[in-house]
Amino acid sequence: MAPARSLLFTAASLVAAVAAITKDVPFLPGTGAGFPSPWGSGKSPEWKEAYAKAKEFVGQLTLVEKVNLTTGTGWEADVCIGMTGSVPRLGFRGFCLEDGPLGIRYTDHNSAFPAGINVAATFSRDLMRRRGEAMGEEFHGKGIDVQLGPVAGPLGRVPQGGRNWEGFSPDPYLTGVAMAETIRGIQSRGVIACAKHYILNEQEHYRGRIDVKIDDRAMHELYLWPFADAVKADVGSVMCSYNKVMGEWACENEYTTNYLLKNELDFQGFVMSDWGAQHSTLGSALAGLDMAMPGDGGPPPYGSLWGGALTAAVLNGSVPAWRVDDMAVRIMAAYYLVHTGNYTARRPDVNFSAWTNQTAGPLHPSSNKTWALVNQRVDVQAGHAALIREIGAKSVVLLKNVNKTLPLKRPTSIAVIGEDAQDTPGGPNACPERGCIRGTLAMGYGSGTADFPYLVSPATALKLRAGAATPRRDSQTSPEAAIVFAMATAGENFITIDGNAGDRNNLTLWNGGDALIRAVASVNPNTIVVLHTVGPVVIDYAKEHPNITAILWAGLPGQESGNALVDVLYGDVNPQGRSPFTWGRDAAEYGAELLFNASDPVAPSQTFGEGVFVDYRWFEREGIAPVVAFGEGGSYTTFEYGGLKIKGYETERYQASGGVTGEAETVGKVDGGEGGWEASRAPGGFERIVPYVYPWVVGNGTAGVGNGTTGTTGMAMNGSAQPVLPAGGAPGGNPGLWEVLYTVSANIKNTGAVKGTEIPQLYLQLGGESNPFSVLRGFDEVVLEPGETKTVVFNLTRRDVSNWDTKSANWVINGEEKFVFIGSSVVNIKLHGALPALKE
Ligand code: NOJ
Repeated sequence: MAPARSLLFTAASLVAAVAAITKDVPFLPGTGAGFPSPWGSGKSPEWKEAYAKAKEFVGQLTLVEKVNLTTGTGWEADVCIGMTGSVPRLGFRGFCLEDGPLGIRYTDHNSAFPAGINVAATFSRDLMRRRGEAMGEEFHGKGIDVQLGPVAGPLGRVPQGGRNWEGFSPDPYLTGVAMAETIRGIQSRGVIACAKHYILNEQEHYRGRIDVKIDDRAMHELYLWPFADAVKADVGSVMCSYNKVMGEWACENEYTTNYLLKNELDFQGFVMSDWGAQHSTLGSALAGLDMAMPGDGGPPPYGSLWGGALTAAVLNGSVPAWRVDDMAVRIMAAYYLVHTGNYTARRPDVNFSAWTNQTAGPLHPSSNKTWALVNQRVDVQAGHAALIREIGAKSVVLLKNVNKTLPLKRPTSIAVIGEDAQDTPGGPNACPERGCIRGTLAMGYGSGTADFPYLVSPATALKLRAGAATPRRDSQTSPEAAIVFAMATAGENFITIDGNAGDRNNLTLWNGGDALIRAVASVNPNTIVVLHTVGPVVIDYAKEHPNITAILWAGLPGQESGNALVDVLYGDVNPQGRSPFTWGRDAAEYGAELLFNASDPVAPSQTFGEGVFVDYRWFEREGIAPVVAFGEGGSYTTFEYGGLKIKGYETERYQASGGVTGEAETVGKVDGGEGGWEASRAPGGFERIVPYVYPWVVGNGTAGVGNGTTGTTGMAMNGSAQPVLPAGGAPGGNPGLWEVLYTVSANIKNTGAVKGTEIPQLYLQLGGESNPFSVLRGFDEVVLEPGETKTVVFNLTRRDVSNWDTKSANWVINGEEKFVFIGSSVVNIKLHGALPALKE
């Protein structure tokens, strides 16, 4: 019999039986024997041609030319936020890397797209993909090679996490789908995507020091999951994060990079460091880092941990030649992977400077050298405003709508209240990196921002709409509707607003938002609340308040904010947004804690003791009824669910991958010995520009070759064939994980009077004490005319029904009975049934 969900929040006994925390499960990093950095194989059909081209290219390079591709030229040394060295001999310019996940940072004539959390709230694969394509087109048009996004870390372990909004959702399945669609979109436009920040980068406080400890299962089932989807979608690059994992820096972590990412997930692209997250020359090279960003910051004589220091490390034998070859091949393979089809020979020059708004400026700002026309002001916006408006509208989550308050029916008077409705004094980009709280909120703050080309505020859009449609706008009488706007922002830790150092200190509204809402509601019986927030805020009082007739969450909608909102308020778009996170009454309700005050602030550490129980999984485990459930959101119509069908397929037994890889290869010429040192020096008479980073060696010893191999073992030097891991074997992991084992279908009917979109969600109960009550494993976007019925089909893969098993280092299907729940949110379940036993 299926567990009764209605009992969930009342029967403590059921809750207790549902799950046990995985707190004391030991963390077992693979075999514990140490791992060399896996060399890219280019075996999969998607990467084959890219690898062949990359090897041909790298085969022509000298050691210093290879190293030049691996190392940034230094902070503000070139026009992009990060730029590698070039290969002038072959006419290949350096790679231009640029933030961020919602559009191009630090330029103009670009679009400001809705944030990750908004596109997650649409639950629309189509919009996720189209947003990725549009962003890719814009980055390509500016000459950018790598877009520094999308984000799956932070995943959103804690609701206050400053950068959660840059990513998608604390649910790994939803984030995984959004990662894959975004990446495919971006890369289809000739731009390499970057899945960041890898891994366990869940808070801003102490981000450059914190050591995170986690059990193997939570690592796989939560935090690694969306990165696996990114790798399966052939992401070209991954950015390792600032924090430590199990005692080692994430950017020199043999376990997370060599073992998990490059071996188990068979990642074929390159790993770059977050800016300044590299800590050593050898440790990072041996633990799988492929590109150092921004490249400077090392000791003399190189001023870089790589650059000439890496060249010297290869020449003196501390880093094997094949490792540097592998770095260069991986970087060039990612390049060729995205430069196919229409994009084969298209690589625009970089035509903007991240470092100045002036038209003319230095090509090398850090040394103020080589003035040129740096900002060509290429307009890359195309028709993207329409898509931005569509995502903005379709991401609005209707949290309350009493007596059909919405859509608005031509009210004769509307009061628009709150700073958050207004235009920003001084324009939408008045505060650098959106580091203030003036005017309406349409993105968070920090490096994940883009400059707005314009920002349509709600006040402006409402004035236009109401002016056009309303016969009378009489401000003397009390308004028919009062729309009150409130916000809460968050961002990166280099900006502190009102005492919030990136992470939010609490979950209340900012700028006196709660008091404002209460004050308006106390006098107007038709108070409509609109929230622009980076995540959940405490709104239980507003949900209960009799004078608050409607609540909408509009998230961070980007440049078309007001227009998108008006589309929903007036019913041109029937809301389909569903909350991509759970709303509680207090941060403490979420279980997982953000470390605000470490007992050891120099070397803080934190254990993610809640294991896989974050967000709704924790609420269900603890029997806490959320204020707004994960997946919840209203519509102007109603839907009926029926006709559940569950079909199991006969399958082949799951095969653990095995065998061995090839041996590490050196590619082309290897510069070694005395000749190597000579060939790796700057040409005679070359004048170094300080602080530019170069690949050439100085002297012939180890001077400046920062040591530090703490993240690595002796195995790191071993270039002989390596065992393939049981859960590995192809990009994303063992190909058998994507085999469809079940299809589940249901009928959804629009029972209301207007067209609408339902987002049916499939949750799975994997069974047993250590599993959450349910986990999301499917969703769809179903557009229905009034009276129309459609059948929705969900495919459940082997990975979807498996748990990570530390002992066998593989995914296994436990022997417990499993249940499927289909509903309109995690708590509003309409249909359920048991999964038939597997037929293998
Ligand atoms: C640090 C941030 O963590 C990362 O997301 C960003 O891409 C780099 N800075 C470059 O701005």
